Amino acid sequence: MTRKALITGITGQDGAYLAELLLDRGYEVHGMVRRSSTERFERINHLRDRLTLHQADLLDQLSIVKVLQDVRPEEVYNLAAQSFVPTSWLQPLLTGEFTALGVTRMLEAVRLVDRKIRFYQASSSEMFGAAREEPQNEQTPFYPRSPYGVAKVYGHWITVNYRESYDIFACSGILFNHESPRRGKEFVSRKITDAVARIKLGVQEKLLLGNLDAARDWGFAGDYVRAMWLMLQRDAPSDYVVATGRKHTVRELVEEAFAQVDLDWHDHIEVDPRLIRPAEVNKLRGDAGRARAELGWQPEVTFPELVKMMVEADLRRVQCELNQQELPP
Ligand code: NAP
Ligand code: GDD
Repeated sequence: MTRKALITGITGQDGAYLAELLLDRGYEVHGMVRRSSTERFERINHLRDRLTLHQADLLDQLSIVKVLQDVRPEEVYNLAAQSFVPTSWLQPLLTGEFTALGVTRMLEAVRLVDRKIRFYQASSSEMFGAAREEPQNEQTPFYPRSPYGVAKVYGHWITVNYRESYDIFACSGILFNHESPRRGKEFVSRKITDAVARIKLGVQEKLLLGNLDAARDWGFAGDYVRAMWLMLQRDAPSDYVVATGRKHTVRELVEEAFAQVDLDWHDHIEVDPRLIRPAEVNKLRGDAGRARAELGWQPEVTFPELVKMMVEADLRRVQCELNQQELPP
């Protein structure tokens, strides 16, 4: 029988990759989208005739219950959130509503509609924040450093709590930073690769960045959605760190990206103090040993391959924009 999955946040980076993965595996895929005056479905346009979209919002409990009643999925992937860390200082309450309480609303809907639903929560390495040890694993204590990180800690623990209180198959995937050509342009990786393409093609001169010393464990989003799916195929629910185990600084990311197009980054990068965060997460590096052992998961795309993939995609896209051509899918 065809399995049904519901993805919240299907219009986001991970939602698009996960929808492709589930369609490839023969699922009937449903997506939850919020109402907007203009549709922004660029990341899933190529899949539109294979998906069913439902309007609901993380703020609206009954709308979520209704979607679950209409779809009756076997698996729910809760990817929707206010996911940009700097915005969480500007809108801490809204971030809490979406990214923290939104998880409880999803879990309440699961509890009311069908407790047999398998539930995935998109937790984050931002929960480790000022990390107490390196590398971080499932036992490392949390010390979040932004309203976003604090909200994700709530989302993590409420997921664990519903598993323990109601015996719901609920998993929390603690994913480290993962990027792709579909990454939002405000995140540092895509901000850099987009600028590299524009500078190479002569339509931008400078790129303003914040803290170049921050270090992250960056992987490829396409690899990471595979881990999400694997978590829900196990006999028992659990929590897993998903990471590459290697960290690089923002400066190294800049160097790697500019090297792809034979430019010297020193000629183009300026540090803008306004982009320094009120509280920074200086370094993150994950230990995905448990995911490797229990899920058989490991990343396939390396850091240089990821940066190359993103720079090449941005070069193609910017070139198409300049020629006023449509980008091939
Ligand atoms: P993203 O590209 O920012 O996508 C976020 C999605 O959430 C979008 O589809 C957005 O819809 C939706 N959304 C936001 N508020 C909503 C609301 N009130 N109701 C319904 N939908 C709402 O994020 P991503 O990079 O794919 O990440 C997916 C999830 O993983 C997020 O929860 C993020 O916090 C978490 N995470 C990401 C990473 C990473 O490195 N990418 C690492 C760890 C955890 P619109 O299109 O309408 O805005
Ligand atoms: N965005 C951005 N813009 N970040 C910059 C800049 C800049 O101009 N300059 C330096 N950085 C540094 C930030 O200070 C941070 O230390 C690092 O680059 C990464 O920033 P982001 O790419 O915005 O990602 P993030 O680590 O804050 O959050 C992402 O990863 C989390 C997982 O750890 C997001 O995807 C979160 O949703 C996710 O949970």
